[in-house]
Amino acid sequence: MATKKDNGTPTTIVIFGASGDLTERKLIPSLFNLYCKKRMPDQFRIVGYGSTEFSDDSFRAHLKEGMKEHSRAEYTDNDWIDFASHLEYVKGGYDRDGFEKLNDFLEKWQGEKGNRIYYMATPPGAFPKIIDLLGDTRHLQETHGWRRVVIEKPFGTDLESAQQLNEQIHRTLHERQIYRIDHYLGKETVQNILVTRFANTIFEPLWNRNYIDHVEITVSETVGVEHRGKFYDQVGVLRDMFQNHLLQLLSLVAMEPPVAFDASALRNEKVKVLSAINPMKASEVERATVRGQYEGYRDEEGVRSNSATATFGAVRLFVENWRWQGVPFYLRSGKNLKEKLSQVVIEFKKPPQMLFHSDGGMKSNILVLFLQPDEGIHWRFEAKAPDTVAQLRSVDMEFHYDETFGKTALPDAYERLLLDTMTGDAALFTRADEVETAWGIIDPIMQAWEAGKEPLTFYTPGTWGPREADELLARDGRSWSMWDGRDQ
Ligand code: BG6
Repeated sequence: MATKKDNGTPTTIVIFGASGDLTERKLIPSLFNLYCKKRMPDQFRIVGYGSTEFSDDSFRAHLKEGMKEHSRAEYTDNDWIDFASHLEYVKGGYDRDGFEKLNDFLEKWQGEKGNRIYYMATPPGAFPKIIDLLGDTRHLQETHGWRRVVIEKPFGTDLESAQQLNEQIHRTLHERQIYRIDHYLGKETVQNILVTRFANTIFEPLWNRNYIDHVEITVSETVGVEHRGKFYDQVGVLRDMFQNHLLQLLSLVAMEPPVAFDASALRNEKVKVLSAINPMKASEVERATVRGQYEGYRDEEGVRSNSATATFGAVRLFVENWRWQGVPFYLRSGKNLKEKLSQVVIEFKKPPQMLFHSDGGMKSNILVLFLQPDEGIHWRFEAKAPDTVAQLRSVDMEFHYDETFGKTALPDAYERLLLDTMTGDAALFTRADEVETAWGIIDPIMQAWEAGKEPLTFYTPGTWGPREADELLARDGRSWSMWDGRDQ
């Protein structure tokens, strides 16, 4: 993946939705960190655009507060003053006049020559309009520099709307100019899934149906919907987490080795593996999914009092190919759960014959990829307990990022993604066909849930979700791995 700077050419990053949360919490702190690491282009500026009233100075002051709180780099006033001199604000509406004015403003600094990134940090409903306006007002002409557009999730609300959105933006932009963000792909530990699999020889020979019993992917959160009740209530856990983050994790765990480590080869393999997941029939949705809502959700601000939106989901999927046939992938995610945790558990098959005594019966070897927090990898296997004839005990080999690389080694996901946008590396962004294939998996589940095929179950905040999620695995003779790898 390229990390070289595109120097010599001025680069402008235009942020739509500049007064919003994402800009303050993620985009500006990440750009500031890149600046402190001297990874920004030699000539750059960041232009916020929106209808909120800001001068350049008040825009900078507004961002400084969020920056102090969220930046991972050591904050110093001097660095900030330098960096802030690159920040500007243009007030305007989402209409032709406003966009003409913005283009004139950008040309005044860049002249004819210059690269531009347009970042959609707005609510998703605004994406189509903004892209059309950019196209209509000469923003996207690439005569003297490249133009790239970054699109936040959710990309569409179902397969049909994602297809329409793709069709619409392809009228104005080439696929190579489009950077669809899934911030999970910017996480170091998520990128490390591929390194674990393909930079080591010991895992790959075992990474298939002959040795793996099942895979669990958990992304749990302790927070509820916070201040996003109104938005979340229309979205729910399938759209918010499964269509993007969880399926991305699954595709990295299950994909075949790509022929090269580049955007095209990588994304081809991801699309291939997602295409091998057959969309569920309604009857299967009843057997293979769980739909939960935390108690008290309906009292959250912005949430309908009779809402049936799921805040928890558990889904069993099968990847129908030679490598994975018959191996269940259990995915679960939810809000207001017991712990904040993102992890992939690979549980291996048990030995064919047990020669030794073990109190708890035969145990499987387990590989856990801890994506966050306490990032690392743990490998559990059996050992002989000393001074016994042949009693077994599970032991754990551990790699922790903070111990090996230091406490501040992990950059925010957005740092990497913004840098890749500037260097033109789309490997960690989702391609049009990938987004659509993922929707193709989620759509039938969503439709069956919305038709009430799978009853909504309620769970107590601070637990691991509805007991039906345990039953989902129990029916297959399995259970969720509760092992957190730290105290056993
Ligand atoms: C976002 C979802 O994409 O991911 C949020 O919209 C969720 O609802 C967040 O809280 C979780 O991200 P992370 O990086 O904290 O696991």
